[in-house]
Amino acid sequence: MNVLVTGGAGYIGSHTCVELIHAGHTPIVIDNLRNSNPKSLDRVREITGQTVALYEGDVRDEALLERIFDENEIHCAIHFAGLKAVGESCAIPLEYYQNNLCSTMTLCKVMGKRGVKGIIFSSSATVYSGDNEMPLRENSRTGNCTNPYGWTKYMGEQILRDIAKADPQWSVVLLRYFNPVGAHESGKIGEHPNGIPNNLMPYISQTAIGKREKLSVFGNDYATHDGTGVRDYIHVVDLARGHVAAVNYLCEHKGEAVFNLGTGTGYSVLDMVKAFETANGVKVPYVIAPRRPGDLDTCYADPAKSAQILGWTAKHDQNDMCRDTWNWQSQNPNGFDD
Ligand code: NAD
Ligand code: WQD
Repeated sequence: MNVLVTGGAGYIGSHTCVELIHAGHTPIVIDNLRNSNPKSLDRVREITGQTVALYEGDVRDEALLERIFDENEIHCAIHFAGLKAVGESCAIPLEYYQNNLCSTMTLCKVMGKRGVKGIIFSSSATVYSGDNEMPLRENSRTGNCTNPYGWTKYMGEQILRDIAKADPQWSVVLLRYFNPVGAHESGKIGEHPNGIPNNLMPYISQTAIGKREKLSVFGNDYATHDGTGVRDYIHVVDLARGHVAAVNYLCEHKGEAVFNLGTGTGYSVLDMVKAFETANGVKVPYVIAPRRPGDLDTCYADPAKSAQILGWTAKHDQNDMCRDTWNWQSQNPNGFDD
């Protein structure tokens, strides 16, 4: 299958290109490089031996999308393109709504016109309401998002659900990711956060390599086994393989379906720090800091539906996540920058 991969030069997109190629598919990428570097796709070629076509431009550019459909026989799309920084979304909400929602609508408009009606959407555990019991199931309550980024995912899901409802030819797969971490085992591709990382794992690895003095652990008085926040960290290669499973599912099903992509296991911040130190033989200095506003104490998935229907489960463990994060970080201290 020829798969249009929006945002394919980014962190999850580049790993998904590798797994699509391994599964015999052909990814075709559109990315405006706002949060990525085209070198990621050079590295995908080094890993797979296959060159990935990159259209540099914005998914909201309808004429460019038309050109991509003219030049390629596209069978379905995986829609990663979007802005994803929670804090930034509070500072520039309009840009987040514009980018994340208009890109989804423009993409669907052109796909519908071309009769290509299969789409996989990058959603997030952030769409679940904070008052749910754990683990989170696909039918757990959604909404009450705490930031504009979360609302763009919630609304993106709704738009796609409505499209599938209106036209039974559509097949829409909504994938709710938990906390993606790690990197390809080659160390050639990985996460390259802009500036100071917001997320835990890149902060840990940048501290271990000496770019950051120490990690601030946001709160140690949560109702968890050691007082620090618990999350469902998932290796990005497992996540990428979840997309390959979703492509297979799309081919055989119409309508809308939603799946959690998580491991079902929660680890605390201090669990992750200790695992990183043990896996890599490095020190991660840390201090206990105040809670970060908006954080939950615990968040983890019930991945049973994905296992049952997609035939997908996460295979990498916590040690793999820590080892591969460090492998990427230590081989590429400045990410894709020289
Ligand atoms: P990323 O920033 O590395 O990748 C997103 C890519 O989209 C980037 O390459 C960026 O340049 C591109 N992009 C953004 N807006 C665009 C536009 N309008 N047109 C063309 N390209 C555009 O992020 P990621 O971590 O790979 O995330 C991929 C998707 O998964 C995003 O939609 C994100 O919201 C979602 N997601 C990420 C996480 C996470 O923790 N990383 C968790 C849940 C969901
Ligand atoms: C994990 C844990 C922090 C940094 C975010 C988004 C979510 C999704 C994934 C896109 C928490 C603690 C963190 C640090 C810390 N993204 N922490 N010190 O908040 O679970 O999820 O990324 O959809 O929408 O909100 O991930 O990695 O930021 O935090 O103590 O410097 O690590 O408090 O307990 P989070 P995270």
